[in-house]
Amino acid sequence: MTTFGEKQSRDYDQRATRLLGGLYRRIAADIDAAAHPGAGVLDVGTGPGKMLALLYSRRPDLRLHGVDLSSHMIDLADAALSGSPAELSVGDVAALPYPDDSFDLVVSSLSMHEWPEIDRAIAELARVSRPGGTVAIYDFRFTRSAAAQRALRHSFEAVTVRREPVRPRWHPIGMYLRLTARAA
Ligand SMILES: C[S@@+](CC[C@H](N)C(=O)[O-])C[C@H]1O[C@@H](n2cnc3c(N)ncnc32)[C@H](O)[C@@H]1O
Repeated sequence: MTTFGEKQSRDYDQRATRLLGGLYRRIAADIDAAAHPGAGVLDVGTGPGKMLALLYSRRPDLRLHGVDLSSHMIDLADAALSGSPAELSVGDVAALPYPDDSFDLVVSSLSMHEWPEIDRAIAELARVSRPGGTVAIYDFRFTRSAAAQRALRHSFEAVTVRREPVRPRWHPIGMYLRLTARAA
């Protein structure tokens, strides 16, 4: 398991600002369209919190939470979200620091490929999702999405798990995918 240290987190923050704005805008727009007023949203592996900061500027009504294994990433996310009521925590996707049924929407971007135990991680996403809640995982297209899809079907008892290509505006090639499932 990689833990982002201080320098690695700072470097990632700078690269993310330059390269990932289109993906963050796309994810924030997807959440904006799906979330009811005041909905609780958890971003797992939030990194430097760029997507949450963008989401806050679009939807200040949402209850935003971010969790990440790296305390350095959480420090950066704290800075990106200063002035917002977003709550940020250091924690592992395999043992999320939230009670059952906490969130309407659980999202994650570019983090799943780093999770060593995909079944356990996805069982945790299901545990913290409210009945009827949605999970949306965005990651690189070449990640182990078949295992993740199986785990989503199992953990959410989801009727449908969708796997779709994601191509943010201006991106020349489709590098990303989105897996979505709705909790029973
Ligand atoms: C490539 S970064 C992506 C950050 C952000 N979501 C984004 O899209 O820019 C991957 C993040 O996942 C976090 N991460 C990796 N394994 C994790 C785990 N087991 N639990 C929680 N976060 C994890 C890393 O610390 C890192 O911040």
